[in-house]
Amino acid sequence: MVSIGVDYYPEHWDRELWRSDAEMMKKTGVRTVRMGEFAWSVLEPEEDRFDFEWLDEAVKIFAGAGIDIILGTPTNCPPRWLYEKYPETVMTDRSGSRIALGIRGHRCYSSPKLRERAAVIITKLCERYKDEPRVIGWQIDNELEASTCCCDICKGRFREHLKKKFTDIGELNDRWGMNVWSGSFSSFDTVEPPMGSCTPGWHNPSLTLEWQRFNKWLAADFSDFQADLIRSICKDTVITTNTWFCEYPPDFGELFEKLDVVSYDNYPPSALPQDKDELYSHAFHLDLMRGIKRKSFWIMEQLGGAMGCWFAPSSCPKPGMIKGYALQAVAHGADKVIFFRWRSAAKGAEMFWYGLLDQSNIPSRRFYEFQELTKEINSLALPDSGEIKADTAILYSSDAESALYLQKQSDGYHYYSMLKAFHDGVTALGKDCDIVSVDADLSDYKIIIAPALFICSEQIKQKLRELVKNGASLIITNRSFVKNMDNTCPMQALPCGMDDVTGCQVSEFEPLGYNSVQVELDGSTFAADKWADVLKLCGAETLAVYGERWYKGESAVTVNRFGKGLCFYVGAVGKRDFCKTLIRKVCDMSGLPYTDNVPQNVEITRRCYGERTLTFVFNNNENPVSFDFEGRTLNLEAFECKMI
Ligand code: GAL
Repeated sequence: MVSIGVDYYPEHWDRELWRSDAEMMKKTGVRTVRMGEFAWSVLEPEEDRFDFEWLDEAVKIFAGAGIDIILGTPTNCPPRWLYEKYPETVMTDRSGSRIALGIRGHRCYSSPKLRERAAVIITKLCERYKDEPRVIGWQIDNELEASTCCCDICKGRFREHLKKKFTDIGELNDRWGMNVWSGSFSSFDTVEPPMGSCTPGWHNPSLTLEWQRFNKWLAADFSDFQADLIRSICKDTVITTNTWFCEYPPDFGELFEKLDVVSYDNYPPSALPQDKDELYSHAFHLDLMRGIKRKSFWIMEQLGGAMGCWFAPSSCPKPGMIKGYALQAVAHGADKVIFFRWRSAAKGAEMFWYGLLDQSNIPSRRFYEFQELTKEINSLALPDSGEIKADTAILYSSDAESALYLQKQSDGYHYYSMLKAFHDGVTALGKDCDIVSVDADLSDYKIIIAPALFICSEQIKQKLRELVKNGASLIITNRSFVKNMDNTCPMQALPCGMDDVTGCQVSEFEPLGYNSVQVELDGSTFAADKWADVLKLCGAETLAVYGERWYKGESAVTVNRFGKGLCFYVGAVGKRDFCKTLIRKVCDMSGLPYTDNVPQNVEITRRCYGERTLTFVFNNNENPVSFDFEGRTLNLEAFECKMI
């Protein structure tokens, strides 16, 4: 059943509070608590001296209140004694020094000692709670990142990884172009990750990308090691880990491949952009999370108050946001929405990252709104796993994300922004949108959007070619197919061997940064920026032209009929209205439905529960909106989500 929960830290509060908190949660309609993910030092205060008494008590209290429990494995925060005794368990940074202790997430994923101690504490936890029916699942670690530990063990594993990938060091040097700046390696054992204080862009891009791929694999490997252990003890449990969009994100597909469910930490902005033209598409993150396993997911941390601590607090969630953003998550595929956190911390670094209750423990506006939410969700009694059926997919590539991050293309040109712009365009037309891996089976989609597919294998190119041939409409953009899988540039005109599909080639380009250029599409003029591909036709027709600069009048967007399908090439980087106009055009030319009068920032999502389809209409605006939808007038308050 779709339900609401909270994150709770019993180890931070006096015991007398546990019982009253549990009672209040029960009264409020909270169905799940997550706890324990940072509690290693209180579970094992000294090596092999364990204290589970407090957790037993907490589990008993919450289970007794009829609340389900998700336990965290505490590996994000090994205790200080462990680091002091076994310094090799601490991460080494890019300068080659062990990182300073005192925050969290210091652990090296590869350290055998860390894994040995992690296995001990995880085994003890699993054995202790495996028969407690209210312990329904496990969260592995916390927000695992593809962080770059440069210790000797990690370096050694990286070298082993390379040995499997290349027949000999000569092949690596050749494929990566290591002779540039005389950087060739003499053997695998001399390969060093990109270290030092310079920005990654100074290093060989093939090396930096492969190191990033390795770090993504390492995060998944660390998670899998824990998942295997948990599964060997707790037979029918649900295993997950909570992810987010950090600086070095994991490969989401790889991270969750062996886990049961995707969990996401969802902190939508509590202030919307003032500029109505500025890209705003928070639902993008939710759709991406649903796309990882192509099924419903959990929110493990949900916005509960102003966010701050290591930065000045953001504005408070506005009236309607606590409830509205949670329902938005459900609309896009969440089956559990667990709020961060029940009560704001009174001690420690996070006291100004506010929860639902302030330190005073006196319920106020945020809490009352939360209560309304739990009531509504509980009364709806929605079954888990309601499906979303979209005819449109945006492709996500973990390689393209990293490669574009490591080698900037133009000021302000970001991979996620490229995807978000199209997501915004699809949403603006009231359409459901999947975001799926470039490796996924795409045969069910009618529109496939592949923004900034910067790095791409020949197999994926062939797959896209076949899809268009068989009738799909494919949208390809600037900065696609620029690199091969070694992250080097093929000596071909862009779009590198795909011009039979696009019917055009890139004859010139301009990295625009924040300078703008006009684009004329469908009788309207739009401002574009960041990048401009000037297109030369070889079979395609022009849909949009540049309205200024030295390429005035040249093609900016084209369409080509290929087999039974259409291929659109989008050379310019437009903002939200441009994307909306473009997607409308694509739908018209592909004979696909859309809703044309959806007010800005209103999202329409349909979830199917067996025979029954529930339509969620969410107003992601600070003002009420009103519009005609399916034969009736819908009036929505600020951040209101209606289910019809
Ligand atoms: C998340 C993290 C939580 C907490 C929260 C608010 O990223 O998983 O443990 O730190 O942010 O800062």
